[in-house]
Amino acid sequence: MAKFIVITFFTLFVIFTSYFVNVSSSESHGTKSPPTWAKTEPHHGGHERKTVLQFYFHDVMTGESPTVALIAQPIGGNNSAMSFGSLFMADDPLTVSPDPNSYLVGRAQGLYGAASQKGVNLIMGLNYGFVDGIYNGSSVVIFGRNSVTNRVREFPVVGGTGVFRMARGYAVAETYFINHTSRNAIVGYNVTIFHL
Ligand SMILES: *[C@@H]1O[C@H](CO)[C@@H](O)[C@H](O)[C@H]1NC(C)=O
Ligand SMILES: *[C@@H]1O[C@H](CO)[C@@H](O)[C@H](O)[C@H]1NC(C)=O
Ligand SMILES: *[C@@H]1O[C@H](CO)[C@@H](O)[C@H](O)[C@H]1NC(C)=O
Ligand SMILES: *[C@@H]1O[C@H](CO)[C@@H](O)[C@H](O)[C@H]1NC(C)=O
Repeated sequence: MAKFIVITFFTLFVIFTSYFVNVSSSESHGTKSPPTWAKTEPHHGGHERKTVLQFYFHDVMTGESPTVALIAQPIGGNNSAMSFGSLFMADDPLTVSPDPNSYLVGRAQGLYGAASQKGVNLIMGLNYGFVDGIYNGSSVVIFGRNSVTNRVREFPVVGGTGVFRMARGYAVAETYFINHTSRNAIVGYNVTIFHL
């Protein structure tokens, strides 16, 4: 009888410890692997990594809670919001899907301004700071011309911090939705970066 109890306890001990070992190993694996919106692989013989990020950018210019503020306009200029010389400050949410209420992966913060005397072309300098998983606290910086009337456009990635130190690369942006009255837009981003 005593032998039976010892064997039973021993079996339960083995089952419980293997269960907890599995849980902790999958947890540590979870913190090291990239989140679902990112794919990463060694590049250049393992000297650096290639990461592709996919997310949606929500630029809310008007409405109850705008994420963009008009901060300057040329004196004596055309007062239309998007006219040449208008400068904006943005703090735009980045999410996993086009739904603005979907999982937040980061925020794009910085400046953009109307830089073209004909048509609407922006010059854009934004810090894309991420808050999810292994990328929490890391960022990439995009600086370039944004021809917002083209459905698809490309921007240079000029740098990064944290996991994305020494980043260089490019972002392909595609307008998913735009309301020309409210000027609110949802833009899909595919960002390809090479980094340490
Ligand atoms: C003011 O700017 C808007 C947008 O760029 C343009 O459509 C409009 O024609 C401009 N108006 C004048 C008077 O220049
Ligand atoms: C990201 O990091 C901050 C500061 O270290 C922490 O407060 C926050 O909970 C983290 N967020 C996620 C989603 O891990
Ligand atoms: C972004 O990547 C996805 C998946 O590879 C693809 O379906 C989509 O067309 C890409 N979008 C752009 C603007 O390149
Ligand atoms: C576009 O924005 C206008 C002004 O905010 C709003 O009245 C209209 O319902 C919006 N249309 C769509 C399709 O979201």
